[in-house]
Amino acid sequence: MRCPSDPLRIGIAGLGTVGTGTVRLLQTHDELIRSRCGRHIRIAAVSARDRRKGRGVDVSAARWYDDAVAMAGDPELDAVVELVGGADGVALALVRAAIGEGRHVVTANKAMMAERGCELARAAEQAGVTLAYEASVAGGIPVIKLIREGLAANGVSRVYGILNGTSNYILSVMRESGREFDDVLAEAQALGYAESDPSFDVDGVDAAHKLAILTSLAFGCEVDFGAVHIEGIRHVSAMDIRYAGELGYKIKLLGVARRTDEGVEQRVHPCMVPAESPIGSVEGVYNGVVAEGDFAGSLMAEGRGAGAGPTASAVVADLIDIARGNRPPTFAVAASALAPSRPLPMDSHRGPYYIRLTVVDLPGVIADVTAIFRDFEISIESIVQRGRAPGETVSVVMIVHETAEAAMTSALARIAKLDSVTERPQMIRIEDF
Ligand code: NDP
Ligand code: HSE
Repeated sequence: MRCPSDPLRIGIAGLGTVGTGTVRLLQTHDELIRSRCGRHIRIAAVSARDRRKGRGVDVSAARWYDDAVAMAGDPELDAVVELVGGADGVALALVRAAIGEGRHVVTANKAMMAERGCELARAAEQAGVTLAYEASVAGGIPVIKLIREGLAANGVSRVYGILNGTSNYILSVMRESGREFDDVLAEAQALGYAESDPSFDVDGVDAAHKLAILTSLAFGCEVDFGAVHIEGIRHVSAMDIRYAGELGYKIKLLGVARRTDEGVEQRVHPCMVPAESPIGSVEGVYNGVVAEGDFAGSLMAEGRGAGAGPTASAVVADLIDIARGNRPPTFAVAASALAPSRPLPMDSHRGPYYIRLTVVDLPGVIADVTAIFRDFEISIESIVQRGRAPGETVSVVMIVHETAEAAMTSALARIAKLDSVTERPQMIRIEDF
């Protein structure tokens, strides 16, 4: 028979960046944690691929499992911490097995929570165990708690933010240095800030995983990663970043989730945001998340979205909740009560747009372009030709008033076919918060 002051005994699968960070934090703050939750948190078992690998932390007192899934069956464990990664495979098998064995689960795995979150939340609810995932969104920023606990009494209408530190770092350096995307990405990889395969980060997939989780939490609907409109930052040029600056904006990779009477919009794409806005001020590897509650108003949290220390901080906060007996529903409402996601198509989005055209500098070119905008009832706020080069190509930059995405994409498809337009038109959405 166990008593409430007995240590919480955990097994950690994955001893990479986050796993070793979690071990280090638990060992450093053992006494502090005990004083805060009335019991110790003891690492009873660990698993990783290579037992002989040096990890810079001492886990010799813990039982070693070559097979992470087998660790879920260890009868001594109260909770399993999944820090392997990946939406499927070992991570998913481990979490399913741990829940099946009646053990609490803590994970930092946004891909798994975005793609399997509902299934796992239902299983955890049926088994009467906690499924905690604070570290999966924005690393060290307690954004899950902000929405689920802090805004528990609010209707939430919109959540948005900078959810990927790698992309924000690249866009920040491009703005500061005037360099192009490929050049800055290569440097970030050489410095170890970006992965050797950076596609999840720079193509918006990582941010979309996180946004899908936040959407479910904020609106009480099923996690619907497939409904997120995703664009990355590869096509953002130094020229657009410079023009954005002249217009009072910064370009950020934003995740935006908004609920309307018609449904739920989820989108990840580069945005122009007012340079002086709180979200516009989030630079470098930092993340920032804004949640809008009907009684609390707009709340913003900013901090480190990745790295061993910040991510371990979120993992251990979840373990402390389990040790204290705090048991909030996984996605803020009972998993069985999650509503269908009611996704809105991107075509129905409305907003202002920045357009940059590369055109031959000849009489009548602007007239052809504006005639197409007139046909789609798109109203131009400002138009500026950059430079003068008769017979040569020049940039024409336009800001258009709020319009429907469907009208804008159709108009740009027609503009792209004009003989005088020599490159694919650039379009970046503007968010005036
Ligand atoms: P790493 O690649 O650094 O570590 C992964 C660990 O998993 C390694 O220790 C590896 O073992 C182990 N592993 C891989 N396959 C198996 C397997 N079949 N059985 C047992 N162990 C296995 O990943 P991170 O620590 O960076 O990320 C872990 C999770 O945290 C991911 O879901 C990630 O998305 C998430 N996350 C990461 C953040 C970060 O800053 N890194 C921030 C927020 C979330 P071995 O060492 O022996 O190869
Ligand atoms: N790769 C992510 C980022 C960190 O660049 O923000 C893990 O979520």
